[in-house]
Amino acid sequence: MSTHGQDVRFMSERWTGAYSGAVVIISARTDSVSMLPYFSDWPRVQNKYQSRSQEEKHIRAILGQMTLEEKVGQMIQPEMQQLTPEEAGRYKFGSALNGAGVWPSRNKHTSAKEWASTVDAYWVAVDEAFQRRPFRIPFMWAVDAIHGNNNLFGATIFPHNIGLGAANDPRLIEQIGQATAREIAACGMDWTFAPTVAVPRDFRWGRHFEGYSDDPEIVYRYAGCMVRGLQGETSADQSVCRIVSSVKHWIGDGGTCCGIDRGITECSEEDLLNVHGMGYVSALAAGAYVVMVSFSSWKHFANYDHAPEDGIVYNYKLHGSRYLIHDVLKQKMGFDGVVVTDWDGHGEVSKCSLGDARYAFNAGVDVLMVEARRDWQSVYFNAIEDVQAGRISLARIDDAVERILRMKFRAGLWDTTRPIKRAAVRNAGITGCEAHRRLAREAVRKSLVLLKNRSNILPIQLNSRILLTGSAADNIQKQMGGWSLSWQGIDVTPEDFPHACTLAKAVAKVVGSENCFLDPLLQSANPGEFDVALVAIGEDSYAEMKGDIRPWRTLEYAALKPSYFRDREILQTLRKAHSNIVTIFFSGRPLYLNEEINLSDAFVAAWLPGGEAEGITDVLIRAEDGSIGHDFQGRLPCRWPATKRAFATHQPPRSLTNAIDPIEIQPEVLFPRGFGLSYRKKELSARHNAIDLPINIGPALPPAIPARRPLQVLGPQACDKYCLRIAGNGFWVGSDVSRCKPTDALLGRLEPIDYLGAKDAIAADFNGRIASIYVRTEDQQPEDLRGYLLVKASLAFDIKLQLPPQGTVLLACHDCYPSQGAVNITSLLKAATQGHWTTIRVPLSELERHGSEFQHINTPFMLYTENRMTFVLGNIRWEICESS
Ligand code: BGC
Repeated sequence: MSTHGQDVRFMSERWTGAYSGAVVIISARTDSVSMLPYFSDWPRVQNKYQSRSQEEKHIRAILGQMTLEEKVGQMIQPEMQQLTPEEAGRYKFGSALNGAGVWPSRNKHTSAKEWASTVDAYWVAVDEAFQRRPFRIPFMWAVDAIHGNNNLFGATIFPHNIGLGAANDPRLIEQIGQATAREIAACGMDWTFAPTVAVPRDFRWGRHFEGYSDDPEIVYRYAGCMVRGLQGETSADQSVCRIVSSVKHWIGDGGTCCGIDRGITECSEEDLLNVHGMGYVSALAAGAYVVMVSFSSWKHFANYDHAPEDGIVYNYKLHGSRYLIHDVLKQKMGFDGVVVTDWDGHGEVSKCSLGDARYAFNAGVDVLMVEARRDWQSVYFNAIEDVQAGRISLARIDDAVERILRMKFRAGLWDTTRPIKRAAVRNAGITGCEAHRRLAREAVRKSLVLLKNRSNILPIQLNSRILLTGSAADNIQKQMGGWSLSWQGIDVTPEDFPHACTLAKAVAKVVGSENCFLDPLLQSANPGEFDVALVAIGEDSYAEMKGDIRPWRTLEYAALKPSYFRDREILQTLRKAHSNIVTIFFSGRPLYLNEEINLSDAFVAAWLPGGEAEGITDVLIRAEDGSIGHDFQGRLPCRWPATKRAFATHQPPRSLTNAIDPIEIQPEVLFPRGFGLSYRKKELSARHNAIDLPINIGPALPPAIPARRPLQVLGPQACDKYCLRIAGNGFWVGSDVSRCKPTDALLGRLEPIDYLGAKDAIAADFNGRIASIYVRTEDQQPEDLRGYLLVKASLAFDIKLQLPPQGTVLLACHDCYPSQGAVNITSLLKAATQGHWTTIRVPLSELERHGSEFQHINTPFMLYTENRMTFVLGNIRWEICESS
């Protein structure tokens, strides 16, 4: 390892740790570090737990008595919906998880105590399974607690990481980690999949908000603090809970090309380490027990194929990367903890399948997160067979199990009792308690970034009459973002967050409901009657896979969805009415909003603050005596785009440039990283306050040409560029459906049927897992089909229902679902006569209204359901209206 000479001197002055030969010792707090180290090679990181010989002896002793089956059981982590306590005991599994939006008995409002009883049932089953053995290995439960214990009803929900990045307060991060750990422990759980230390470099990535910043320095400063907060120092303080933290996603998840989730990162190894790897350096030093592998690929010659003899080309997926997992993370960096896979992540490696993880195990993964029962059974038995046949060495298995046992020791699991008896579970006052919510409110206050304040319109006087408008004025989903009681955060209501408060409610609490008027769509209010218009706008909630802005779109907020365009219209109306406009923007990333900023007198980036909206009013509204209670403290954690296509940051970290805070003067940067106004800091830049920002006009689309022929999608005359496919939960990549013979898919059975021609229709029996059946262009290329809108075409198909839908069914056409939306056709299907062919017809204009963009369609038909349904489907077409 080497560093820039200059930096070594600087760091040795600042760091409370020291350098010793090739080993970086960061034994103390890193929050005093004000400059990022530069590494020319992967550093060896000394973690705070020195392996204790007693502990290692204990681990070896247990390992020596374990059967191969017991070892493999420790290495597999099934999901609770596909695992019973009896199975957990039978296979002696080491751990289980519950996915986001999964709760016992599908009850969203499951309490912490009820969660603990569920976890307890599994824990006890595994414990009993060890009863006739000379040793026991405690079972663990893992959850995605990424902004508070967000899957738990009534939990404290903290701002998402991007907001915490804006707060730029490492101490606060540690406290949030501690509070989150307590609320996880209250459920009898032991492990969280956090923190995310991604360094998102492209705003289009749908997980941008999960990263603290696009600046590796902030991520570096935060990662260790969050790990310390979650895992707890070994302390006598009973209020400190020790929850295993997983630093994720190793590595380069934020660097994928075009910001595509699970995509391909193509950067140099120097950048991989100094940009995307810095969070791991501080997290590992702080003693993180687990690292989770990224779904993405690192396309680089160093990322070699470790089993070239099998002939299949390795697709550079991190889950198969022996270079980055074994050689770099474990060998060079000296990580002695556990490498866990992401959800079925091994299945995306070209050399694995969902049921066969040999290549991933040999790359160095220790625990495999596998969802479906048939897959975890298959990987379990395959792994045993692979060891017996010498395809996976016993040494590799022992290495994995040793790490798992080490993690369990360090987390103190042998000292804890069964979940329902733990102190944190018995203490009913932890979940969503006052102290935690006060902390969340403080985090909200500190995360707000003031981008404009013309004529010091902020702070608002307490006695003002306030008009509250905009799509986010009273919208809990937009405040919370994804990973909030549900996965995507789109199926939750205010009732699901008993402590939470929307902005509208927070304002009413402060100024009195008689002094504010809520009109989100500005349909009835007369703007002239109010002193201030508080316009809350923002992105709809999303999470992984679904939040990406597609490569053919721009960053222009108003162009992303019709409802966002409506927000701009509201601002225009208010401007015409000469209102004093304060705009609050909720989002998981900066977007192009020049016009909206011009239309506003004040503009605040509020990120995804969660439930404590009173943290916003604390800063926006003066106290009763006219004083300012709280000033703005937030600073942009990433630059803000000046143009619609300023997608990615290419700014090298300061450690690489050796420059102190380079001022970003590039034309595509509107506000540099670190920008943020405050009440005290009066010097206002003319660029941002007085002069109107330039409006960036994108290239005009060529005019659409009216379609002349119907589009045959599935049926005897269907175009051969299309293929029929199926995809769904645990199987998102999807696969082609055979048009000749029956297919037994994970999601149900499919069989070609004669309808208008030979085998031109498909019979499907969906078994209740999330499933979609769709027709897509074979080469996945989207087509410009706006011509069909011009002739008022409809999407039509024939369907014969044998078992009517047991829940919602959606119809869509898109090039990426659900970023293009869908139409709910459940009632149309329920009205159809069972057992008879019926034609369902939906005008394309209706699909457009729900978000389909006809300029980019590679899937002219998709049916989506999360419930059981049995049907035959045929003759799918886009019909042209006779009269057009
Ligand atoms: C996500 C991870 C998450 C895991 C378990 C995956 O799809 O990528 O970040 O921890 O699911 O829910």
